[in-house]
Amino acid sequence: MVAVTFDGQELTLVEGENLAAALLAAGVDTFRETPVSGAPRAPFCMMGACFDCLVEIDGTVRQACLATVTDGMNIRKPNGTSDV
Ligand code: FES
Repeated sequence: MVAVTFDGQELTLVEGENLAAALLAAGVDTFRETPVSGAPRAPFCMMGACFDCLVEIDGTVRQACLATVTDGMNIRKPNGTSDV
């Protein structure tokens, strides 16, 4: 188990697990909001196709479904279209 933060909230996740799955299992249900309407988005395809799982990980916007959990990750919801 390792500690990460999501939007400032400390979470304990299983190291090496798929990040999107681990966040969902930890109760995170909104990974980002759409830039136009602000509608909430969460992982849908879990295979890198839909981009609904975009998060900012240590300053870089990435698909959570294609990332694995590592110790100390600082994860945030991306802001606006410039991050996508
Ligand atoms: S859940 Fe679709 S790209 Fe990650």
